[in-house]
Amino acid sequence: MSLLQNKKIILGISGGIAAYKCAELTRRLTEQGAQVRVVMTSAAKAFITPLTMQAVSGNPVSDDLLDPAAEAAMGHIELAKWADLILITPASADLMARLAQGMANDLLTTLCLASAAPTVISPAMNQQMWAAPATQRNLEQLKKDGRFIIGPGVGEQACGDVGAGRMLEPAQIIEYLPAFFLPQVLQGTKVVITAGPTQEAIDPVRYISNHSSGKMGYALAQAASWLGAQVTLVSGPTNLVPPQNCECIAIKSTEQMLSACQQVSQQANIFIACAAVADYKAASIESHKIKKTQHQLNLQLTKNPDILATIAQQVDKPFSVGFAAETQDVARYAKDKMQRKNLDMIIANDVSNQQIGFNSEQNAVTVYWPDGELDFAAEDKSTLAIKLLQLIAKQYTQQTQ
Ligand code: C5P
Repeated sequence: MSLLQNKKIILGISGGIAAYKCAELTRRLTEQGAQVRVVMTSAAKAFITPLTMQAVSGNPVSDDLLDPAAEAAMGHIELAKWADLILITPASADLMARLAQGMANDLLTTLCLASAAPTVISPAMNQQMWAAPATQRNLEQLKKDGRFIIGPGVGEQACGDVGAGRMLEPAQIIEYLPAFFLPQVLQGTKVVITAGPTQEAIDPVRYISNHSSGKMGYALAQAASWLGAQVTLVSGPTNLVPPQNCECIAIKSTEQMLSACQQVSQQANIFIACAAVADYKAASIESHKIKKTQHQLNLQLTKNPDILATIAQQVDKPFSVGFAAETQDVARYAKDKMQRKNLDMIIANDVSNQQIGFNSEQNAVTVYWPDGELDFAAEDKSTLAIKLLQLIAKQYTQQTQ
């Protein structure tokens, strides 16, 4: 189930060319089960019609503070109380200025004053207008007032300029929203997560690797960020786009992953090793491409360092969580691994079951910690990741109290 299911969202649109993206944004929100009520400034109506927004949201569009008919249907205070979240995009320089001043001179600004719901502002405007001292001053004021700012994006603009001020894409905006509906149990913590496979070079064009997709690690990074953590994702090569709010360090080999982890784990509170690290690497990497002249080729392999065990042996180690992919006797091997690697928790999955785990969209796991265990039935990796991080947060908090 989407985290936006049944959430009541006011989508505030102000006057900017990017307003056309709001039709798709609304479709995506409603597809995820959110209830959307659109509020437009009078300038917004020059860029996208209320009829379009009514059709895509399935609700009448509100645009006038002083319309007796609209007030009779759902008054502005009622609408302000209805919302779980106010999302404003594109937020123009003018709207930001009015919000920063606490003005209530149209319906949208009035709703922002009258609502206790979190307000997420995603600005979009010409890069020069964005950089203008007055806009930056208003931005700072809005942040001080507790408004949440996302974006703007950087790139080519409708006016031909290039720079900061593009409206974020609807998918990017939606990626930020679940955080506003989840208790921020990891607020103030730094979490490092490893993900994906590693690649061990044999010669300049070949390597040894595995089929890890990185999906579970990326889902954990996204979930940790939604729960309020500052996340660093150390990832081997994958086809996935890193979550927006995470710092991503891209590596290839196990040695590179280890040195990145050693660096970032020094400030980390929690370390989660989800990567499918190659157990062996080539004893020596050929400097030229190996020619296929021999009938048989023997590769000399040597053991890779254990990243998780190395981090978990540190004196000031972070709360350390490992994964155990097993095909038999899962509980015994997992608990043994937890002890051997000095872990605070281990997440075990039975990889003999083809429906779950490696490369699939779903996973089912059992989590062990020194004085407890918990089963998680098969579900999509994104939902499972949130539950796992909530459990990790609970155990971490208990340990540090
Ligand atoms: O020993 P095994 O590979 O089964 O351990 C799995 C756990 O250890 C995973 O959390 C994995 O990310 C981590 N690991 C590691 N470095 C290695 C091997 C495994 O961090 N070289």
